[in-house]
Amino acid sequence: MTNSTLLQINKDDVRLGMFVHGFGAQWLRSPFAASQFKLTRPAELEALRESSVTTLVIDLSKGIGPTSSTAPLPRPRESSTSTSAEAALTKATGMVRSIFSNAASSMCIDRQQVDSVVDVVDQLLHTRPASVLNLTKLKTKDEISFQHSVAVCALVGLFARHLKLDSKVVRILSVGSLLHDIGKIRIPTAILTKTDKLTAHEMAVMQTHPSEGHAMLARTKGLPEIVGEMCLRHHEKLDGSGYPDGLKGQQIGAAARIVAICDVFDALTSIRPYKKGLTPEAAAEMMGSWDGHFDRALLKQFFDCMGLRWPSDPAQTRQITDEMGISTQADLNNF
Ligand SMILES: [Fe+2]
Repeated sequence: MTNSTLLQINKDDVRLGMFVHGFGAQWLRSPFAASQFKLTRPAELEALRESSVTTLVIDLSKGIGPTSSTAPLPRPRESSTSTSAEAALTKATGMVRSIFSNAASSMCIDRQQVDSVVDVVDQLLHTRPASVLNLTKLKTKDEISFQHSVAVCALVGLFARHLKLDSKVVRILSVGSLLHDIGKIRIPTAILTKTDKLTAHEMAVMQTHPSEGHAMLARTKGLPEIVGEMCLRHHEKLDGSGYPDGLKGQQIGAAARIVAICDVFDALTSIRPYKKGLTPEAAAEMMGSWDGHFDRALLKQFFDCMGLRWPSDPAQTRQITDEMGISTQADLNNF
């Protein structure tokens, strides 16, 4: 480490009064919204101790070092902040279920409910970003679509802020990402919940969900056009091999390119009853190896945002892919 005031320490050596300089690639696992701050509250120590972070970097010029005599780490006990984040996400998922259910009967969107969910996700992203991302990885069979919508909304919100987009744009992207799969309410449950590979006919039905969703959003007054675009275009690929229209390159708008990345990243890293999730690092390796799918510049920015390295080992990627039973990008169409 070139800066002599910076010191990498183990999580177990953390004390109150230390200044956290960063978590490096482990930021995603940290329970904190800020990456640089002084540890002053026991609750922060508890949150850090309960997280899966193993090491962090402290700045000795701004806080105490590991040899100073300070209060030891408190004993772990149930984290109320983690519990409240979980409760908030459960509530948000329930609200998405209600949005989807109402849309199925009225064929349009309850904008007020959408705003409420975005508010919940936005609040959690400011206070517990890593918790949101970790908690939304877990998917249950009955709630997959709703949990996925919340997860993609959180990822897009985080990514949009990383890109330093205007707050109003972040808001629109959050709404669009929450609703990107709304068209799935028109897909038969048997196809949506099928865990085996879809037949050609089932795949064709599944691939109508962007158009179905777009038609529904078009009937909802007051939604920005870009929300409909995100829904209609989130399965398009830059090389023209996506659906529904096989658009290429610049024909696919930036908002759709952003949600496409977050959509697949959540699908790959999700833990489902019938499937292990990839680690974020393995997902990055895989996504980086797919030429022609994503906007490469945006994908690199996304990896930066998530503290992930740009993939460098195609052989390792293939091994991971084989172990997961994912041989082609088409295998992901069930997501
Ligand atoms: Fe989709």
